[in-house]
Amino acid sequence: MAGGAAVLLMQVSQTIAKHMPDCEIIELHHDKKLDAPSGTAIRTADLITEADNEHVARAIAKILDDPNALAARNAWREAVDRGEALFNDTKLGATGKSCASCHSASSLRNVEDAYPKFDPVRKRFVDLNEAINYMIQERMKGTPLPPNDQRYFDLLAYIKTLK
Ligand code: HEC
Repeated sequence: MAGGAAVLLMQVSQTIAKHMPDCEIIELHHDKKLDAPSGTAIRTADLITEADNEHVARAIAKILDDPNALAARNAWREAVDRGEALFNDTKLGATGKSCASCHSASSLRNVEDAYPKFDPVRKRFVDLNEAINYMIQERMKGTPLPPNDQRYFDLLAYIKTLK
């Protein structure tokens, strides 16, 4: 997050905290920052705590200390990293191309919002998984991924970070 935006976020959080009985700090990163939680989150947590709200302070302590929350966050980041690697992996197909050969990451920004999408050729809705499999089969001449393949979820995780 750009510095100015981070400062603004912190100020807004502090103001909101005074008026809300409970709130949560949710961070979504696509960057490879290793500090978990980030400096911004901790500073924001400090400011909200300063706003003297017991509920909020407890919620934040939970986020910062809860090993489950941290594990979930790390698992998510690992999935995103694997998804990014797959996005650049030519071995998904047989044409020597990867997803990245045809798509810049930014071109798929928010793409999941459009799904399920009505496909006039198939005369039905298709979901994003199916659209990705279609890419692998038709555009990359690869073997379609079996249902519930972890690689779908990893690609989806990566695509969802393209905000
Ligand atoms: C050879 C080029 C090529 C490759 C490789 C390719 N795509 Fe595509 N992709 C396209 C084109 C062209 C479209 C436009 C729609 C169509 O042809 O069906 C598209 C459409 C899409 C869409 C739908 C976009 C929308 O607006 O609904 C998604 C999602 C997508 N691709 C993801 C992927 C992923 C993930 C991979 C890798 C597994 C991939 N593509 C590989 C060319 C490619």
